[in-house]
Amino acid sequence: MKFINSGLIYTNSLLYRLFTFVQQNLKRYNMATKSKIALVTGGSRGLGKNMALKLAAKGIDVIITYNSKKDEALQVAAEIEKNGNRAAALQLNAGDIGSFTTFFESLAGILKSKFDADRFDYLVNNAGIGLGAAFKDTTVEQFDELMNVQFRGVYFLTQKALNYLNDGGGIINISSGLARFTAPGYSAYASMKGAIETITRYMAKELGARGIKVNVVAPGAIATDFAGGVIRDNPQYNANVKAVTTLGRVGEPDDIGGVVAFLCTEDARWITAQRIEASGGMNL
Ligand SMILES: NC(=O)c1ccc[n+]([C@@H]2O[C@H](COP(=O)([O-])OP(=O)(O)OC[C@H]3O[C@@H](n4cnc5c(N)ncnc54)[C@H](OP(=O)(O)O)[C@@H]3O)[C@@H](O)[C@H]2O)c1
Repeated sequence: MKFINSGLIYTNSLLYRLFTFVQQNLKRYNMATKSKIALVTGGSRGLGKNMALKLAAKGIDVIITYNSKKDEALQVAAEIEKNGNRAAALQLNAGDIGSFTTFFESLAGILKSKFDADRFDYLVNNAGIGLGAAFKDTTVEQFDELMNVQFRGVYFLTQKALNYLNDGGGIINISSGLARFTAPGYSAYASMKGAIETITRYMAKELGARGIKVNVVAPGAIATDFAGGVIRDNPQYNANVKAVTTLGRVGEPDDIGGVVAFLCTEDARWITAQRIEASGGMNL
């Protein structure tokens, strides 16, 4: 009897030790594999949508923003969730700096309720609008609208995002090939993208102490709704772009999303303050 009892005690303590071991390692595994979270502005369509899908394909959870196209944004989020990642869509007017405090309050709520997190890891400043107008014709109103969305908004959204961004994370700003080469009609737009490239270096320098990498991706002409869809829908414009592109075609959103997703991985951990142009070699 004594022999049986001590055998049972031994088995119980073995089971208990096994249970504790599994529990501790499961916890460690969950912590180690907890998905990173990216916030992509303008993720309802075009380049931002492709970035969101490519990020999710790398196992990164994604929060996208939209300005007006809520249904499209919800569809992108649903597609990501269908493939097993977590996703959410939030409204944001990137040109309305006054709304940013409320935006980040909503973001904090979503992070807690849906992602079981207080912070996120990557910010992709993608949302944007285009303007094709000759230098001599560009109005103050056009300039200001562009400035608000393309530069002022990015500057102050990122500033506010710093309170929610994990150390060791990253910021990817979206510029344009037009900041390197020159095409008539884009003086205001290209100047603001030039400013994005400059602020990228300053962000990288000042945020390096927190381990935050900051890079800029500069797409060439890509067939999206951008600038009224001219690159995609206007055969003459499309042919002109093709003629000056070394790889011999107009860019597609699929040419860009993966570059941004790569910058949000461990393999890109030593890259910061860099400008990566993805233009198929436009205007070399
Ligand atoms: N396509 C190109 O040839 C090209 C080349 C170089 C750089 N880029 C840059 O790439 C980025 C994305 O361009 P895209 O081609 O994907 O353009 P797009 O197809 O027109 O999509 C624009 C995205 O930005 C959002 N957006 C527009 N205005 C906004 C605002 N005021 N506040 C917040 N979100 C706003 C839109 O939201 P809604 O859907 O809700 O309207 C949409 O998600 C832009 O920064 C653009 O400058 C584009």
